[in-house]
Amino acid sequence: MSIVDEVARETLDAIRARGTHRRMRVLDGAQAPRMEVDGREVALFAGSNYLDLAHHPDVVEAAARAAHEYGCAAGGSRLISGNLTIHEALEEELAAFLGVEAALAFSTGYMANVGVIPALAGQGDLVVSDALSHASIIDGCRLARADVRVFPHSDPAGLEAVLAEATPKYRRTLLVIDGVYSMDGDVAPLPALVESARRHGAMVLLDDAHATGTLGKNGRGTAELLGVEDEIDVYVGTLGKSLGSFGAFVAGSHGLRELLVNTARSFIFSCALSPPQVEASRAALRVIVGEPWWRERLQANAARLREKLAGHGISTEPSTTHIVPVVLGTNERTMAVCERLLERGFYAQGIRHPSVPEGTARLRITPMATHEATEIDALADVIAEALAEIP
Ligand SMILES: Cc1ncc(COP(=O)(O)O)c(C=O)c1O
Repeated sequence: MSIVDEVARETLDAIRARGTHRRMRVLDGAQAPRMEVDGREVALFAGSNYLDLAHHPDVVEAAARAAHEYGCAAGGSRLISGNLTIHEALEEELAAFLGVEAALAFSTGYMANVGVIPALAGQGDLVVSDALSHASIIDGCRLARADVRVFPHSDPAGLEAVLAEATPKYRRTLLVIDGVYSMDGDVAPLPALVESARRHGAMVLLDDAHATGTLGKNGRGTAELLGVEDEIDVYVGTLGKSLGSFGAFVAGSHGLRELLVNTARSFIFSCALSPPQVEASRAALRVIVGEPWWRERLQANAARLREKLAGHGISTEPSTTHIVPVVLGTNERTMAVCERLLERGFYAQGIRHPSVPEGTARLRITPMATHEATEIDALADVIAEALAEIP
């Protein structure tokens, strides 16, 4: 056995013993309410193409046109040969959409967080984040050589205590929060959190990966929903979820953009987004601005699903959004229920540690704007049956 295989075996055996071994399912077809999963056609309740824009005709047409006009690659990093007029246009449009001065595209939301957090905080600074922060925020904190403090999930008093105790010891403090938590679907109590940050002179970074396009009157996300847009210094958003494309962005002031162009390593040392991705994102943004009914239908579908599950006595706490968890506890039960749903024609992913804390394995259900009410009702019925069959 090669050394590589020895390392793999040792690590994978430990993962299997913990019941958290993962394999990739193979899907076929366009990301849509119905897809083939491991060779079986099912209703898809497991994606992030929340508004179903990934194959909206305007988005597809824009990507195809860009491929014909510009080809399939930007051909380099933005600072060398990859900075096209369309990248600049996308960024101006994202900034205008959010009502900020400037934006900068990154290849993924993960790369945006590992780029922006170290750009804003280094040695002698403090980063404060929520206990349930997304992995990319945790990794961004690790890469920033700043001290890191974590406050209890969505607990303004907990944040206040950390800030009051720690900020005087540091040069600067950066508060990093998710707008919508990706595994629970709850919205952060932004007004109280940003108020505390302001009181202690901390910068505020909001990662709104799941809320851009899906929440707020104009789709601008959780800060718009909760009326605190003026309090956000830095937005992180992705283009690969509700915008139905690929990529991400950081948005805020002109100074922030210039700082990132000059210091964010995940921006500098990486290839620019391809033209089809850029043009698909621009088209999706136009849909989000011009066709609010996609997010209205999404939220109506999510509310219907939560209500139907509640009717079966199934809790979806603490979700108030289009990410709907059903916490089942053990890995074994969660994955057994997930398989049973697949057999009955529905795909809702089972999520285990380390994506969620130990003992809180769950189904993570993500309805789309284009699911039919009948599909949502049928999913709730099938979940209720599966939970009864697999105690
Ligand atoms: C809160 C949050 N931030 C960042 C990301 C990463 O975004 P991307 O998939 O574009 O890398 C995710 C992905 O799920 C997320 O939930």
